[in-house]
Amino acid sequence: MKSASLGKKPRRVKAAFIGPFAIVLTFILGAFAATAYFVEVQVRDRDLAERMTAVEKLVDQKLGKDTNLMQAVLRTMMDNRAIEVAFASLDREALIREAGPLFETLRADHRITHLYFNGPDLVNLLRLHSPGEFGDLINRSTMTKARDQGKSMHGLELGPLGTLTLRLVTPWRGRNGILGYLEIGEEIEYLVEEIRDSLSVDLFVLVDKHFLLPQQWHQGLALLNRQGNWDRFGSHVTVAQTTRQVPSALNDSILASLRAGGTEVFKDGNRVLHLAMLPLDDAGGRRIGDLVVMRDITALQKTFQKSVTAVSLLSLLSGAGVLGLFYFALDRVERDYQRQHDLEHQLLRLGTEHQRILQIEKLSALGTMVGEIAHQLNNPLVGVVNLAQLAAREADDPARTRELLTEIHRAGEDCHAFIQSMLRFSKVSGFESMPTPMTQVIEETVLLFRQTESRHCPVEIRLPEQPAVLTVDPILIRHALFNLLLNAAQASVDEGVIVIALDRAASPDSGAPGWEISVTDHGKGIDPDVMDKIFLPFFTTRSDGTGLGLPVVQHVALLHGGTVTASNQPDGGTKFAIWLPDREQIGSN
Ligand SMILES: Nc1ncnc2c1ncn2[C@@H]1O[C@H](COP(=O)(O)OP(=O)(O)OP(=O)(O)O)[C@@H](O)[C@H]1O
Ligand SMILES: [Mg+2]
Repeated sequence: MKSASLGKKPRRVKAAFIGPFAIVLTFILGAFAATAYFVEVQVRDRDLAERMTAVEKLVDQKLGKDTNLMQAVLRTMMDNRAIEVAFASLDREALIREAGPLFETLRADHRITHLYFNGPDLVNLLRLHSPGEFGDLINRSTMTKARDQGKSMHGLELGPLGTLTLRLVTPWRGRNGILGYLEIGEEIEYLVEEIRDSLSVDLFVLVDKHFLLPQQWHQGLALLNRQGNWDRFGSHVTVAQTTRQVPSALNDSILASLRAGGTEVFKDGNRVLHLAMLPLDDAGGRRIGDLVVMRDITALQKTFQKSVTAVSLLSLLSGAGVLGLFYFALDRVERDYQRQHDLEHQLLRLGTEHQRILQIEKLSALGTMVGEIAHQLNNPLVGVVNLAQLAAREADDPARTRELLTEIHRAGEDCHAFIQSMLRFSKVSGFESMPTPMTQVIEETVLLFRQTESRHCPVEIRLPEQPAVLTVDPILIRHALFNLLLNAAQASVDEGVIVIALDRAASPDSGAPGWEISVTDHGKGIDPDVMDKIFLPFFTTRSDGTGLGLPVVQHVALLHGGTVTASNQPDGGTKFAIWLPDREQIGSN
Protein backbone atom coordinates (compact mmCIF):
# COMPACT_ATOMS: atom_id res chain seq x y z
CA MET A 1 0.00 0.00 0.00
CA LYS A 2 2.78 2.27 1.03
CA SER A 3 4.86 1.62 -2.12
CA ALA A 4 1.85 2.55 -4.28
CA SER A 5 1.63 5.93 -2.65
CA LEU A 6 5.39 6.39 -3.02
CA GLY A 7 5.09 5.52 -6.72
CA LYS A 8 3.03 8.65 -7.40
CA LYS A 9 5.99 10.96 -7.13
CA PRO A 10 7.86 9.81 -10.29
CA ARG A 11 4.65 10.10 -12.36
CA ARG A 12 4.54 13.79 -11.50
CA VAL A 13 8.16 14.08 -12.66
CA LYS A 14 7.21 12.78 -16.13
CA ALA A 15 4.30 15.19 -16.40
CA ALA A 16 6.59 18.01 -15.30
CA PHE A 17 8.94 17.26 -18.22
CA ILE A 18 6.46 16.39 -20.95
CA GLY A 19 4.24 19.46 -20.41
CA PRO A 20 6.95 22.11 -20.84
CA PHE A 21 8.50 20.13 -23.70
CA ALA A 22 5.20 20.10 -25.59
CA ILE A 23 4.78 23.83 -24.93
CA VAL A 24 8.30 24.56 -26.22
CA LEU A 25 7.63 22.42 -29.30
CA THR A 26 4.35 24.22 -29.99
CA PHE A 27 6.11 27.53 -29.52
CA ILE A 28 8.88 26.55 -31.98
CA LEU A 29 6.30 25.44 -34.55
CA GLY A 30 4.33 28.65 -34.03
CA ALA A 31 7.51 30.69 -34.44
CA PHE A 32 8.32 28.75 -37.59
CA ALA A 33 4.85 29.39 -39.05
CA ALA A 34 5.10 33.09 -38.18
CA THR A 35 8.57 33.34 -39.74
CA ALA A 36 7.38 31.50 -42.85
CA TYR A 37 4.46 33.92 -43.20
CA PHE A 38 6.79 36.88 -42.68
CA VAL A 39 9.22 35.56 -45.31
CA GLU A 40 6.35 34.99 -47.76
CA VAL A 41 5.14 38.56 -47.27
CA GLN A 42 8.68 39.84 -47.77
CA VAL A 43 9.23 37.84 -50.95
CA ARG A 44 5.85 38.82 -52.35
CA ASP A 45 6.28 42.52 -51.53
CA ARG A 46 9.84 42.65 -52.89
CA ASP A 47 8.72 40.96 -56.10
CA LEU A 48 5.88 43.45 -56.63
CA ALA A 49 8.14 46.40 -55.75
CA GLU A 50 10.67 45.25 -58.36
CA ARG A 51 7.92 44.94 -60.95
CA MET A 52 6.61 48.41 -60.10
CA THR A 53 10.06 49.88 -60.69
CA ALA A 54 10.25 47.97 -63.97
CA VAL A 55 6.78 49.24 -65.02
CA GLU A 56 7.84 52.82 -64.29
CA LYS A 57 11.05 52.38 -66.27
CA LEU A 58 9.29 50.74 -69.18
CA VAL A 59 6.64 53.47 -69.39
CA ASP A 60 9.38 56.12 -69.42
CA GLN A 61 11.39 54.22 -72.00
CA LYS A 62 8.46 53.67 -74.34
CA LEU A 63 7.12 57.22 -74.08
CA GLY A 64 10.66 58.54 -74.62
CA LYS A 65 11.14 56.36 -77.68
CA ASP A 66 7.79 57.38 -79.16
CA THR A 67 8.49 61.05 -78.45
CA ASN A 68 11.78 60.72 -80.33
CA LEU A 69 10.00 59.11 -83.26
CA MET A 70 7.40 61.87 -83.31
CA GLN A 71 10.12 64.49 -83.09
CA ALA A 72 11.81 62.96 -86.14
CA VAL A 73 8.52 62.96 -88.03
CA LEU A 74 7.94 66.64 -87.29
CA ARG A 75 11.48 67.52 -88.37
CA THR A 76 10.98 65.67 -91.65
CA MET A 77 7.82 67.70 -92.27
CA MET A 78 9.46 70.98 -91.42
CA ASP A 79 12.23 70.16 -93.91
CA ASN A 80 9.62 69.71 -96.65
CA ARG A 81 9.50 72.93 -98.66
CA ALA A 82 6.09 72.22 -100.19
CA ILE A 83 4.51 71.66 -96.77
CA GLU A 84 6.17 74.82 -95.46
CA VAL A 85 4.78 76.91 -98.32
CA ALA A 86 1.33 75.42 -97.86
CA PHE A 87 1.40 76.11 -94.09
CA ALA A 88 2.72 79.63 -94.56
CA SER A 89 -0.03 80.41 -97.06
CA LEU A 90 -2.64 78.72 -94.79
CA ASP A 91 -3.55 76.46 -97.75
CA ARG A 92 -5.45 73.58 -96.14
CA GLU A 93 -5.93 71.69 -99.44
CA ALA A 94 -2.23 71.86 -100.24
CA LEU A 95 -1.36 70.71 -96.69
CA ILE A 96 -3.71 67.70 -97.01
CA ARG A 97 -2.19 66.89 -100.35
CA GLU A 98 1.45 67.25 -99.24
CA ALA A 99 1.31 65.87 -95.69
CA GLY A 100 -1.70 63.51 -95.94
CA PRO A 101 0.12 60.45 -97.37
CA LEU A 102 2.89 60.66 -94.73
CA PHE A 103 0.29 60.87 -91.98
CA GLU A 104 -1.58 57.85 -93.35
CA THR A 105 1.62 55.81 -93.30
CA LEU A 106 2.33 56.94 -89.75
CA ARG A 107 -1.19 56.09 -88.66
CA ALA A 108 -1.05 52.66 -90.25
CA ASP A 109 2.46 51.65 -89.15
CA HIS A 110 3.36 53.73 -86.09
CA ARG A 111 0.16 54.22 -84.06
CA ILE A 112 0.25 58.02 -84.74
CA THR A 113 -3.34 59.12 -84.26
CA HIS A 114 -3.21 62.94 -84.33
CA LEU A 115 -1.47 65.56 -86.51
CA TYR A 116 -2.35 69.27 -86.19
CA PHE A 117 -1.30 72.42 -87.99
CA ASN A 118 -2.03 75.36 -85.67
CA GLY A 119 -1.45 79.02 -86.34
CA PRO A 120 0.79 81.35 -84.28
CA ASP A 121 -2.37 82.36 -82.38
CA LEU A 122 -2.93 78.67 -81.50
CA VAL A 123 -6.04 78.54 -83.68
CA ASN A 124 -6.28 75.23 -85.51
CA LEU A 125 -5.67 75.38 -89.28
CA LEU A 126 -5.91 71.69 -90.04
CA ARG A 127 -6.44 68.36 -88.26
CA LEU A 128 -5.04 65.78 -90.66
CA HIS A 129 -6.75 63.00 -88.65
CA SER A 130 -10.05 64.89 -88.84
CA PRO A 131 -9.90 67.51 -91.61
CA GLY A 132 -13.54 68.55 -91.09
CA GLU A 133 -12.83 70.11 -87.68
CA PHE A 134 -10.76 73.31 -87.64
CA GLY A 135 -10.76 76.93 -86.60
CA ASP A 136 -10.88 76.27 -82.84
CA LEU A 137 -8.37 77.47 -80.30
CA ILE A 138 -6.01 74.80 -79.01
CA ASN A 139 -5.02 75.74 -75.53
CA ARG A 140 -3.86 72.47 -74.10
CA SER A 141 -0.89 72.54 -71.75
CA THR A 142 1.66 71.21 -74.27
CA MET A 143 0.58 73.86 -76.75
CA THR A 144 0.69 76.85 -74.41
CA LYS A 145 4.01 75.73 -72.94
CA ALA A 146 5.56 75.36 -76.43
CA ARG A 147 4.36 78.88 -77.25
CA ASP A 148 5.50 80.36 -73.94
CA GLN A 149 8.90 78.69 -73.91
CA GLY A 150 9.42 78.72 -77.67
CA LYS A 151 10.53 75.11 -77.82
CA SER A 152 9.21 71.55 -78.28
CA MET A 153 7.00 70.31 -75.47
CA HIS A 154 5.58 66.87 -74.90
CA GLY A 155 3.57 64.94 -72.34
CA LEU A 156 0.42 62.94 -71.64
CA GLU A 157 -2.89 64.62 -72.13
CA LEU A 158 -6.38 63.47 -71.39
CA GLY A 159 -8.89 63.84 -74.14
CA PRO A 160 -12.58 64.57 -73.46
CA LEU A 161 -13.54 61.02 -74.54
CA GLY A 162 -11.30 59.61 -71.88
CA THR A 163 -8.40 58.81 -74.16
CA LEU A 164 -4.87 59.36 -72.97
CA THR A 165 -2.65 60.80 -75.67
CA LEU A 166 1.05 61.37 -75.82
CA ARG A 167 1.43 64.74 -77.54
CA LEU A 168 4.40 66.63 -78.94
CA VAL A 169 4.13 70.29 -79.98
CA THR A 170 6.95 72.03 -81.88
CA PRO A 171 7.08 75.71 -82.89
CA TRP A 172 7.73 76.15 -86.66
CA ARG A 173 9.83 79.16 -87.40
CA GLY A 174 9.81 80.39 -91.00
CA ARG A 175 12.00 82.98 -92.63
CA ASN A 176 9.69 85.75 -91.53
CA GLY A 177 9.13 84.63 -87.95
CA ILE A 178 6.89 82.00 -86.40
CA LEU A 179 4.73 80.12 -88.92
CA GLY A 180 2.74 78.31 -86.29
CA TYR A 181 2.82 75.04 -84.34
CA LEU A 182 2.93 71.41 -85.38
CA GLU A 183 1.29 68.97 -83.02
CA ILE A 184 1.56 65.20 -83.26
CA GLY A 185 0.08 62.60 -80.92
CA GLU A 186 -0.58 58.96 -80.26
CA GLU A 187 -3.06 57.24 -78.01
CA ILE A 188 -1.24 55.15 -75.52
CA GLU A 189 -3.67 52.33 -74.69
CA TYR A 190 -1.32 49.99 -76.52
CA LEU A 191 1.26 50.65 -73.73
CA VAL A 192 -0.56 48.61 -71.08
CA GLU A 193 -0.64 45.56 -73.38
CA GLU A 194 3.08 45.78 -74.04
CA ILE A 195 3.92 46.14 -70.35
CA ARG A 196 1.74 43.15 -69.52
CA ASP A 197 3.56 41.07 -72.16
CA SER A 198 6.99 42.16 -70.86
CA LEU A 199 6.45 42.00 -67.08
CA SER A 200 3.60 39.51 -66.57
CA VAL A 201 1.42 41.97 -64.66
CA ASP A 202 -2.04 43.28 -65.41
CA LEU A 203 -2.69 47.02 -65.54
CA PHE A 204 -5.66 49.32 -65.19
CA VAL A 205 -5.59 52.93 -66.14
CA LEU A 206 -7.97 54.88 -63.90
CA VAL A 207 -8.82 58.49 -64.60
CA ASP A 208 -10.20 60.97 -62.11
CA LYS A 209 -13.82 61.75 -63.01
CA HIS A 210 -13.15 65.45 -62.38
CA PHE A 211 -11.36 65.60 -65.71
CA LEU A 212 -14.18 63.96 -67.66
CA LEU A 213 -17.81 64.48 -68.50
CA PRO A 214 -19.98 61.36 -68.33
CA GLN A 215 -21.72 62.10 -71.59
CA GLN A 216 -18.53 62.55 -73.57
CA TRP A 217 -16.98 59.53 -71.88
CA HIS A 218 -19.97 57.42 -72.96
CA GLN A 219 -19.62 58.79 -76.50
CA GLY A 220 -15.98 57.75 -76.36
CA LEU A 221 -17.02 54.21 -75.38
CA ALA A 222 -19.25 53.92 -78.41
CA LEU A 223 -16.76 55.58 -80.74
CA LEU A 224 -13.77 53.55 -79.69
CA ASN A 225 -15.78 50.36 -79.26
CA ARG A 226 -14.79 50.01 -75.61
CA GLN A 227 -16.50 48.55 -72.54
CA GLY A 228 -16.80 50.43 -69.31
CA ASN A 229 -18.97 51.38 -66.36
CA TRP A 230 -19.00 54.99 -65.22
CA ASP A 231 -20.37 54.03 -61.77
CA ARG A 232 -18.01 51.12 -61.05
CA PHE A 233 -15.88 53.32 -58.73
CA GLY A 234 -16.74 56.48 -56.87
CA SER A 235 -14.18 59.03 -58.02
CA HIS A 236 -12.42 57.27 -60.88
CA VAL A 237 -13.25 55.49 -64.08
CA THR A 238 -11.32 52.87 -66.01
CA VAL A 239 -10.05 54.02 -69.40
CA ALA A 240 -7.68 51.18 -70.27
CA GLN A 241 -7.07 47.68 -68.92
CA THR A 242 -5.30 44.46 -69.82
CA THR A 243 -7.96 42.10 -68.47
CA ARG A 244 -11.45 41.83 -69.84
CA GLN A 245 -12.93 42.80 -66.50
CA VAL A 246 -11.83 44.66 -63.44
CA PRO A 247 -11.69 42.19 -60.45
CA SER A 248 -15.04 42.28 -58.67
CA ALA A 249 -13.37 42.52 -55.24
CA LEU A 250 -11.50 45.68 -56.21
CA ASN A 251 -13.33 48.53 -54.54
CA ASP A 252 -12.94 52.18 -53.57
CA SER A 253 -11.42 51.46 -50.14
CA ILE A 254 -8.74 49.24 -51.69
CA LEU A 255 -8.03 51.96 -54.26
CA ALA A 256 -7.77 54.54 -51.48
CA SER A 257 -5.28 52.37 -49.62
CA LEU A 258 -3.24 51.90 -52.82
CA ARG A 259 -3.32 55.62 -53.45
CA ALA A 260 -1.86 56.11 -49.94
CA GLY A 261 1.19 54.15 -51.10
CA GLY A 262 0.44 50.69 -49.71
CA THR A 263 0.01 47.34 -51.41
CA GLU A 264 -3.05 45.13 -51.12
CA VAL A 265 -3.62 41.41 -51.28
CA PHE A 266 -7.12 40.06 -51.79
CA LYS A 267 -8.94 37.06 -53.07
CA ASP A 268 -10.94 37.33 -56.26
CA GLY A 269 -12.72 34.04 -56.80
CA ASN A 270 -10.00 31.40 -56.87
CA ARG A 271 -7.28 33.93 -57.53
CA VAL A 272 -5.10 35.73 -55.01
CA LEU A 273 -4.19 39.17 -56.32
CA HIS A 274 -1.48 41.55 -55.19
CA LEU A 275 -1.89 45.21 -56.17
CA ALA A 276 0.06 48.46 -56.10
CA MET A 277 -0.40 51.83 -57.81
CA LEU A 278 1.59 54.46 -59.73
CA PRO A 279 0.40 58.06 -60.16
CA LEU A 280 -0.51 59.20 -63.65
CA ASP A 281 0.45 62.83 -64.27
CA ASP A 282 -0.36 64.83 -67.38
CA ALA A 283 1.89 67.26 -69.21
CA GLY A 284 0.67 70.05 -66.92
CA GLY A 285 1.85 68.17 -63.82
CA ARG A 286 -1.67 67.36 -62.61
CA ARG A 287 -2.46 63.94 -61.25
CA ILE A 288 -5.13 62.87 -63.65
CA GLY A 289 -5.37 59.28 -62.58
CA ASP A 290 -3.67 56.09 -61.49
CA LEU A 291 -1.92 53.19 -63.05
CA VAL A 292 -2.95 50.12 -61.05
CA VAL A 293 -0.49 47.23 -61.32
CA MET A 294 -1.91 43.84 -60.45
CA ARG A 295 -0.05 40.58 -60.02
CA ASP A 296 -1.70 37.18 -59.77
CA ILE A 297 0.14 35.45 -56.89
CA THR A 298 -2.13 32.40 -56.68
CA ALA A 299 0.56 29.98 -57.89
CA LEU A 300 3.27 31.60 -55.77
CA GLN A 301 1.15 31.41 -52.66
CA LYS A 302 0.11 27.85 -53.35
CA THR A 303 3.73 26.78 -53.77
CA PHE A 304 4.68 28.63 -50.61
CA GLN A 305 1.78 27.18 -48.67
CA LYS A 306 2.64 23.71 -49.91
CA SER A 307 6.27 24.03 -48.79
CA VAL A 308 5.28 25.52 -45.44
CA THR A 309 2.72 22.76 -44.89
CA ALA A 310 5.28 20.11 -45.86
CA VAL A 311 7.97 21.54 -43.57
CA SER A 312 5.44 22.05 -40.75
CA LEU A 313 4.24 18.47 -41.10
CA LEU A 314 7.81 17.23 -41.12
CA SER A 315 8.65 19.33 -38.06
CA LEU A 316 5.49 18.13 -36.36
CA LEU A 317 6.39 14.52 -37.10
CA SER A 318 9.99 14.99 -35.92
CA GLY A 319 8.70 16.84 -32.87
CA ALA A 320 6.27 14.03 -32.15
CA GLY A 321 9.14 11.55 -32.65
CA VAL A 322 11.39 13.44 -30.26
CA LEU A 323 8.49 13.75 -27.84
CA GLY A 324 7.93 10.00 -28.11
CA LEU A 325 11.62 9.27 -27.51
CA PHE A 326 11.62 11.71 -24.67
CA TYR A 327 8.53 10.03 -23.26
CA PHE A 328 10.13 6.59 -23.42
CA ALA A 329 13.39 7.89 -21.94
CA LEU A 330 11.44 9.55 -19.14
CA ASP A 331 9.48 6.38 -18.67
CA ARG A 332 12.74 4.53 -18.12
CA VAL A 333 14.03 7.20 -15.80
CA GLU A 334 10.74 7.05 -13.97
CA ARG A 335 10.97 3.29 -13.58
CA ASP A 336 14.57 3.56 -12.38
CA TYR A 337 13.49 6.24 -10.00
CA GLN A 338 10.62 4.08 -8.84
CA ARG A 339 13.00 1.16 -8.31
CA GLN A 340 15.42 3.35 -6.39
CA HIS A 341 12.57 4.73 -4.39
CA ASP A 342 11.35 1.23 -3.51
CA LEU A 343 14.91 0.19 -2.68
CA GLU A 344 15.36 3.14 -0.38
CA HIS A 345 12.08 2.26 1.24
CA GLN A 346 13.19 -1.33 1.71
CA LEU A 347 16.55 -0.19 3.07
CA LEU A 348 14.79 2.05 5.53
CA ARG A 349 12.62 -0.85 6.59
CA LEU A 350 15.67 -3.13 6.86
CA GLY A 351 17.49 -0.45 8.86
CA THR A 352 14.63 -0.31 11.35
CA GLU A 353 14.50 -4.09 11.41
CA HIS A 354 18.25 -4.20 11.96
CA GLN A 355 17.97 -1.78 14.88
CA ARG A 356 15.29 -3.98 16.37
CA ILE A 357 17.38 -7.13 15.93
CA LEU A 358 20.37 -5.35 17.49
CA GLN A 359 18.20 -4.40 20.42
CA ILE A 360 17.04 -8.01 20.77
CA GLU A 361 20.65 -9.21 20.47
CA LYS A 362 21.74 -6.77 23.13
CA LEU A 363 18.96 -7.95 25.42
CA SER A 364 19.79 -11.58 24.76
CA ALA A 365 23.52 -10.82 25.34
CA LEU A 366 22.51 -9.21 28.61
CA GLY A 367 20.48 -12.30 29.43
CA THR A 368 23.47 -14.53 28.63
CA MET A 369 25.70 -12.29 30.68
CA VAL A 370 23.41 -12.39 33.69
CA GLY A 371 23.00 -16.17 33.27
CA GLU A 372 26.78 -16.56 33.07
CA ILE A 373 27.39 -14.43 36.15
CA ALA A 374 24.73 -16.35 38.03
CA HIS A 375 26.25 -19.62 36.87
CA GLN A 376 29.80 -18.54 37.78
CA LEU A 377 28.75 -17.46 41.24
CA ASN A 378 26.19 -20.18 41.88
CA ASN A 379 28.59 -23.14 41.69
CA PRO A 380 31.00 -21.94 44.40
CA LEU A 381 28.07 -20.61 46.49
CA VAL A 382 26.26 -23.98 46.34
CA GLY A 383 29.60 -25.51 47.39
CA VAL A 384 29.88 -23.06 50.30
CA VAL A 385 26.33 -23.83 51.50
CA ASN A 386 26.81 -27.60 51.24
CA LEU A 387 30.24 -27.49 52.85
CA ALA A 388 28.93 -25.26 55.67
CA GLN A 389 26.08 -27.74 56.35
CA LEU A 390 28.60 -30.59 56.36
CA ALA A 391 30.88 -28.64 58.71
CA ALA A 392 27.95 -28.00 61.08
CA ARG A 393 27.13 -31.70 61.14
CA GLU A 394 30.72 -32.77 61.65
CA ALA A 395 31.66 -30.00 64.10
CA ASP A 396 32.88 -32.59 66.57
CA ASP A 397 35.71 -33.56 64.26
CA PRO A 398 38.06 -30.55 64.26
CA ALA A 399 40.35 -31.98 61.58
CA ARG A 400 37.41 -32.65 59.25
CA THR A 401 35.93 -29.22 60.08
CA ARG A 402 39.24 -27.47 59.19
CA GLU A 403 39.36 -29.43 55.93
CA LEU A 404 35.79 -28.33 55.08
CA LEU A 405 36.54 -24.73 56.07
CA THR A 406 39.58 -24.76 53.69
CA GLU A 407 37.21 -25.94 50.91
CA ILE A 408 34.77 -23.16 51.86
CA HIS A 409 37.65 -20.64 51.76
CA ARG A 410 38.68 -21.84 48.27
CA ALA A 411 35.12 -21.53 46.99
CA GLY A 412 35.00 -18.01 48.46
CA GLU A 413 38.33 -17.23 46.77
CA ASP A 414 36.90 -18.41 43.41
CA CYS A 415 33.94 -16.04 43.84
CA HIS A 416 36.33 -13.28 44.80
CA ALA A 417 38.53 -13.94 41.74
CA PHE A 418 35.50 -13.90 39.42
CA ILE A 419 34.23 -10.68 40.91
CA GLN A 420 37.72 -9.19 40.61
CA SER A 421 37.85 -9.99 36.90
CA MET A 422 34.38 -8.51 36.50
CA LEU A 423 35.57 -5.36 38.22
CA ARG A 424 38.64 -5.22 35.96
CA PHE A 425 36.30 -5.37 32.96
CA SER A 426 34.14 -2.56 34.28
CA LYS A 427 37.22 -0.47 35.11
CA VAL A 428 37.92 -0.09 31.39
CA SER A 429 35.35 2.68 31.16
CA GLY A 430 37.71 4.99 33.05
CA PHE A 431 39.83 6.49 30.27
CA GLU A 432 42.67 8.97 30.60
CA SER A 433 44.95 9.45 27.59
CA MET A 434 48.39 11.10 27.54
CA PRO A 435 51.44 11.11 25.26
CA THR A 436 52.93 7.72 25.91
CA PRO A 437 56.20 6.23 24.64
CA MET A 438 54.94 2.92 23.31
CA THR A 439 58.31 1.14 23.66
CA GLN A 440 58.17 1.65 27.40
CA VAL A 441 54.58 0.42 27.69
CA ILE A 442 55.39 -2.74 25.75
CA GLU A 443 58.59 -3.49 27.67
CA GLU A 444 56.94 -2.93 31.09
CA THR A 445 54.00 -5.20 30.17
CA VAL A 446 56.32 -7.99 29.02
CA LEU A 447 58.32 -7.63 32.30
CA LEU A 448 55.15 -7.92 34.39
CA PHE A 449 53.99 -10.83 32.26
CA ARG A 450 57.31 -12.69 32.80
CA GLN A 451 57.05 -12.22 36.55
CA THR A 452 53.46 -13.41 36.84
CA GLU A 453 53.25 -16.10 34.14
CA SER A 454 54.10 -19.48 35.59
CA ARG A 455 54.91 -21.30 32.32
CA HIS A 456 57.73 -18.86 31.48
CA CYS A 457 56.97 -18.72 27.77
CA PRO A 458 59.74 -16.96 25.86
CA VAL A 459 58.59 -13.50 24.62
CA GLU A 460 60.35 -11.68 21.79
CA ILE A 461 59.90 -7.89 21.46
CA ARG A 462 60.20 -6.27 18.00
CA LEU A 463 60.19 -2.47 18.06
CA PRO A 464 60.65 0.15 15.31
CA GLU A 465 63.94 2.04 15.04
CA GLN A 466 62.22 5.31 15.75
CA PRO A 467 60.39 5.03 19.09
CA ALA A 468 56.74 5.97 18.76
CA VAL A 469 54.85 8.22 21.15
CA LEU A 470 51.08 7.88 21.01
CA THR A 471 48.42 9.69 22.95
CA VAL A 472 46.88 6.73 24.77
CA ASP A 473 45.83 5.58 28.22
CA PRO A 474 48.99 3.55 29.19
CA ILE A 475 47.18 1.59 31.91
CA LEU A 476 44.46 0.40 29.54
CA ILE A 477 46.95 -0.44 26.78
CA ARG A 478 49.04 -2.39 29.28
CA HIS A 479 45.93 -4.21 30.48
CA ALA A 480 44.94 -5.13 26.91
CA LEU A 481 48.45 -6.30 25.99
CA PHE A 482 48.65 -8.32 29.17
CA ASN A 483 45.41 -10.12 28.26
CA LEU A 484 46.73 -10.87 24.76
CA LEU A 485 50.04 -12.19 26.13
CA LEU A 486 48.16 -14.30 28.67
CA ASN A 487 45.89 -15.79 25.98
CA ALA A 488 48.96 -16.44 23.79
CA ALA A 489 50.69 -18.22 26.62
CA GLN A 490 47.57 -20.25 27.44
CA ALA A 491 47.27 -21.32 23.79
CA SER A 492 50.98 -22.10 23.37
CA VAL A 493 52.31 -25.65 23.49
CA ASP A 494 55.93 -26.67 24.10
CA GLU A 495 56.78 -23.18 25.24
CA GLY A 496 56.66 -21.75 21.69
CA VAL A 497 58.01 -18.23 21.41
CA ILE A 498 55.53 -15.34 21.63
CA VAL A 499 56.30 -12.28 19.50
CA ILE A 500 55.07 -8.81 20.49
CA ALA A 501 55.72 -6.20 17.77
CA LEU A 502 55.04 -2.49 17.04
CA ASP A 503 54.82 -1.44 13.35
CA ARG A 504 53.48 1.35 11.19
CA ALA A 505 50.28 0.14 9.54
CA ALA A 506 47.20 1.40 7.76
CA SER A 507 43.76 0.80 9.27
CA PRO A 508 42.34 -2.56 8.07
CA ASP A 509 38.95 -0.83 7.70
CA SER A 510 39.56 2.66 6.32
CA GLY A 511 43.23 2.54 5.27
CA ALA A 512 44.01 5.50 7.56
CA PRO A 513 47.63 5.70 8.75
CA GLY A 514 48.44 4.45 12.23
CA TRP A 515 50.27 1.89 14.35
CA GLU A 516 49.76 -1.80 14.96
CA ILE A 517 50.72 -3.64 18.19
CA SER A 518 50.55 -7.38 17.50
CA VAL A 519 50.91 -10.47 19.67
CA THR A 520 51.67 -13.64 17.71
CA ASP A 521 51.93 -17.11 19.22
CA HIS A 522 52.69 -20.55 17.87
CA GLY A 523 49.85 -22.21 19.68
CA LYS A 524 46.83 -24.26 18.63
CA GLY A 525 45.10 -21.45 16.73
CA ILE A 526 41.40 -20.62 16.87
CA ASP A 527 38.72 -22.93 15.53
CA PRO A 528 37.11 -21.15 12.53
CA ASP A 529 33.68 -22.04 13.96
CA VAL A 530 34.25 -19.89 17.04
CA MET A 531 36.31 -17.15 15.38
CA ASP A 532 33.33 -14.74 15.23
CA LYS A 533 32.42 -15.34 18.90
CA ILE A 534 35.74 -14.80 20.67
CA PHE A 535 35.10 -11.10 21.29
CA LEU A 536 31.69 -11.75 22.90
CA PRO A 537 31.70 -11.28 26.68
CA PHE A 538 31.85 -14.59 28.60
CA PHE A 539 32.74 -16.60 25.54
CA THR A 540 35.49 -19.01 26.54
CA THR A 541 36.77 -22.42 25.53
CA ARG A 542 38.81 -22.76 28.68
CA SER A 543 37.39 -24.51 31.74
CA ASP A 544 38.79 -21.85 34.07
CA GLY A 545 38.28 -18.92 31.69
CA THR A 546 35.78 -16.11 32.24
CA GLY A 547 35.63 -15.03 28.57
CA LEU A 548 36.23 -11.40 29.49
CA GLY A 549 39.87 -11.02 28.26
CA LEU A 550 39.22 -10.30 24.59
CA PRO A 551 36.13 -8.08 25.16
CA VAL A 552 38.40 -5.95 27.36
CA VAL A 553 40.99 -5.78 24.56
CA GLN A 554 38.32 -4.79 22.07
CA HIS A 555 36.89 -2.18 24.39
CA VAL A 556 40.33 -0.63 24.91
CA ALA A 557 40.99 -0.51 21.13
CA LEU A 558 37.60 1.16 20.49
CA LEU A 559 38.18 3.71 23.25
CA HIS A 560 41.34 4.77 21.37
CA GLY A 561 39.53 5.03 18.00
CA GLY A 562 41.22 1.81 16.88
CA THR A 563 40.32 -1.82 16.12
CA VAL A 564 41.39 -5.31 17.09
CA THR A 565 41.63 -8.26 14.71
CA ALA A 566 42.41 -11.94 15.15
CA SER A 567 43.81 -14.24 12.48
CA ASN A 568 45.18 -17.73 12.35
CA GLN A 569 48.74 -17.86 11.02
CA PRO A 570 49.59 -20.13 8.05
CA ASP A 571 52.32 -21.90 10.05
CA GLY A 572 50.03 -22.43 13.07
CA GLY A 573 49.33 -20.08 15.91
CA THR A 574 47.31 -16.88 16.14
CA LYS A 575 48.02 -13.23 15.62
CA PHE A 576 46.05 -10.57 17.53
CA ALA A 577 46.64 -7.03 16.29
CA ILE A 578 45.52 -3.79 17.94
CA TRP A 579 45.53 -0.94 15.38
CA LEU A 580 45.68 2.61 16.76
CA PRO A 581 45.20 5.72 14.62
CA ASP A 582 48.04 8.08 13.81
CA ARG A 583 46.21 11.20 14.91
CA GLU A 584 46.89 10.15 18.45
CA GLN A 585 50.63 10.55 17.84
CA ILE A 586 52.03 13.85 19.03
CA GLY A 587 55.72 13.28 18.23
CA SER A 588 58.57 10.91 18.77
CA ASN A 589 61.75 10.91 20.89
N1 LIG B 1 46.04 -16.78 21.43
C1 LIG B 1 45.00 -17.57 21.34
N2 LIG B 1 45.07 -18.78 20.74
C2 LIG B 1 43.96 -19.58 20.62
N3 LIG B 1 42.75 -19.25 21.11
C3 LIG B 1 42.64 -18.07 21.76
C4 LIG B 1 43.72 -17.16 21.90
N4 LIG B 1 43.28 -16.09 22.59
C5 LIG B 1 41.96 -16.29 22.84
N5 LIG B 1 41.59 -17.50 22.37
C6 LIG B 1 40.22 -18.06 22.43
O1 LIG B 1 39.33 -17.05 22.73
C7 LIG B 1 38.59 -17.34 23.87
C8 LIG B 1 38.24 -16.08 24.61
O2 LIG B 1 39.42 -15.50 25.15
P1 LIG B 1 39.29 -14.55 26.33
O3 LIG B 1 40.60 -14.04 26.65
O4 LIG B 1 38.22 -13.58 26.07
O5 LIG B 1 38.76 -15.44 27.44
P2 LIG B 1 39.57 -16.59 28.19
O6 LIG B 1 40.94 -16.46 27.88
O7 LIG B 1 38.88 -17.85 27.76
O8 LIG B 1 39.24 -16.28 29.66
P3 LIG B 1 39.91 -15.10 30.53
O9 LIG B 1 40.77 -14.39 29.65
O10 LIG B 1 38.73 -14.32 30.95
O11 LIG B 1 40.56 -15.78 31.66
C9 LIG B 1 39.46 -18.27 24.58
O12 LIG B 1 38.68 -19.09 25.46
C10 LIG B 1 40.09 -19.04 23.48
O13 LIG B 1 39.26 -20.07 23.04
MG1 LIG C 1 41.99 -14.69 28.19
